[in-house]
Amino acid sequence: MAEIRRVGVVGAGTMGNGIAHVFARSGFPVVLAEVDQPALDRGLSTIDKNLAREVAKGKLAQADSDAARARIAGTLDRRMLAGCDLVVEAATERFAVKQSLFQELDGLLGATPFSLQIPRRSPLPSWRLRRSARTALSACTSSTPCR
Ligand SMILES: NC(=O)c1ccc[n+]([C@@H]2O[C@H](COP(=O)([O-])OP(=O)(O)OC[C@H]3O[C@@H](n4cnc5c(N)ncnc54)[C@H](O)[C@@H]3O)[C@@H](O)[C@H]2O)c1
Repeated sequence: MAEIRRVGVVGAGTMGNGIAHVFARSGFPVVLAEVDQPALDRGLSTIDKNLAREVAKGKLAQADSDAARARIAGTLDRRMLAGCDLVVEAATERFAVKQSLFQELDGLLGATPFSLQIPRRSPLPSWRLRRSARTALSACTSSTPCR
């Protein structure tokens, strides 16, 4: 498997901002893509609050928090995801939207080894996405197994 140097996250909502936070905390530069500015601002502001909470609790040095935050680049332009080695889609459960997003990512990512989709309790038919996205690796975050 190719080395992961840069991570993309699509969607800065409940899941996306947490995923971006964890990757940035772990040292990865992250491109966090959203569809509208208020949603992006909310996601980045949640990351700021969560990092500040970790600093206040003594779990993270201020310098490390600043460095993690500096690794996250928010954008409304999904073309900025080009060059990412891993993209986590955390935007939608709507199949048609997800399918079109994966097709777009396939075009953008070129040789990127894989994308990751996160179904919830009622997993989407991920085999259909694997067929629509050239190299999609599905992962379930719920107790219901991926199909
Ligand atoms: N919230 C959870 O507990 C949870 C748990 C497991 C899995 N999930 C799954 O994760 C995904 C996201 O869930 P969430 O709770 O974070 O949703 P959310 O509504 O909080 O956030 C989704 C975000 O994605 C953005 N978005 C939509 N289309 C986009 C696009 N084309 N490009 C960029 N951004 C886009 C929206 O503006 C929104 O801010 C869903 O598929 C959901 O089923 C959620």
